[in-house]
Amino acid sequence: MHSALVTLALSAAVSATPTFTQIIEGVAGFAEAFQYPNFINVSAAGNYTGFAPDIVGRLDITDTYTGNELFTEYVFGLFTTMANKAANNETILIGYPQNQTVVSLGIEPPMAFASALALFNWGPAIGLVPVQIDSVLRFDDNAQVSQWDGILRRFAWTASTLEPAIAASVRAELKINGTDQEVLQQRAAIDICTAHTQYCTGANVQYASQDDCMDTMLNKKTFGQWYQIGEDSVICRYIHTGMVAYRPAVHCPHLSVSGGGMCRDRSFAVDATTQFALPMIGDNSLAALTALAGSHRRR
Ligand SMILES: *[C@@H]1O[C@H](CO)[C@@H](O)[C@H](O)[C@H]1NC(C)=O
Ligand SMILES: *[C@@H]1O[C@H](CO)[C@@H](O)[C@H](O)[C@H]1NC(C)=O
Ligand SMILES: *[C@@H]1O[C@H](CO)[C@@H](O)[C@H](O)[C@H]1NC(C)=O
Ligand SMILES: *[C@@H]1O[C@H](CO)[C@@H](O)[C@H](O)[C@H]1NC(C)=O
Ligand SMILES: *[C@@H]1O[C@H](CO)[C@@H](O)[C@H](O)[C@H]1NC(C)=O
Repeated sequence: MHSALVTLALSAAVSATPTFTQIIEGVAGFAEAFQYPNFINVSAAGNYTGFAPDIVGRLDITDTYTGNELFTEYVFGLFTTMANKAANNETILIGYPQNQTVVSLGIEPPMAFASALALFNWGPAIGLVPVQIDSVLRFDDNAQVSQWDGILRRFAWTASTLEPAIAASVRAELKINGTDQEVLQQRAAIDICTAHTQYCTGANVQYASQDDCMDTMLNKKTFGQWYQIGEDSVICRYIHTGMVAYRPAVHCPHLSVSGGGMCRDRSFAVDATTQFALPMIGDNSLAALTALAGSHRRR
């Protein structure tokens, strides 16, 4: 009886959600969490409270991730890894969000469009670099994000522009010569294979030895373009160097020759046309669009 009443009360309470206020709190909460050093604790918690348990999150330069824990690893864990490397004076190939300001925002339940101008910290050698992040977010009845379409605006251009400076930092750090791409590949290969040796043990081993891993990263895979962070590239394997510490069974395969279903060849046609299960359009707009389409048909 008691639990039936509670269920009834809850269902009544969520019937008009998510509200404008809940959504703006969700957007502001994320902006707060997604900056240094806050993202380190979020990543340590394992699941971000603002994401729904079955969130589907897509980041244009990488992949689509299903489930809170996995998406939290890619959104918060990746940058924790980069911040840790930078603190250890390692040249980092991808910066982490130092802070950010929301510069565009529109809310129409259950949707929000938010654009944040972030400053990414690329470590002491490079410093702070502007990266604008566009997000289309759908919130569920618990006011958690259930679908996320994220775009790191001009990311490939940004990273290409920084490449000579990052390469110079790697040459100085590792005392090596080579083209920009060669030295970036060397830095990534060392990180990948060191992480593999440290965390991918027992049933999670992907390579016979560190040398075998290095040979694969330097001679059998290409570094990849900056838009190929979710493809069969060395840069894709590099972003998993921290994740193998959290969940070796899940992430060690992403360092492997096959890429474990994550660092793999992708179809442009499929990626370019894949839609989310639920509409990424506000309820009122969707109803209005549907009505307009009907009136056009009737003319
Ligand atoms: C992170 O968590 C630790 C331990 O609970 C706490 O001391 C610290 O203040 C937290 N840092 C931030 C930025 O919230
Ligand atoms: C995240 O949530 C899932 C589902 O509740 C749970 O299985 C998992 O253990 C959680 N992860 C962490 C690191 O707490
Ligand atoms: C990183 O480099 C700075 C400046 O050279 C130095 O002060 C700091 O101790 C170094 N940190 C580590 C972890 O080596
Ligand atoms: C972000 O951090 C930089 C460097 O500390 C600072 O100059 C800038 O004002 C900060 N911006 C915001 C929005 O906090
Ligand atoms: C890099 O090239 C310069 C010029 O050819 C050479 O003097 C130096 O010894 C090389 N360094 C390494 C680590 O190979």
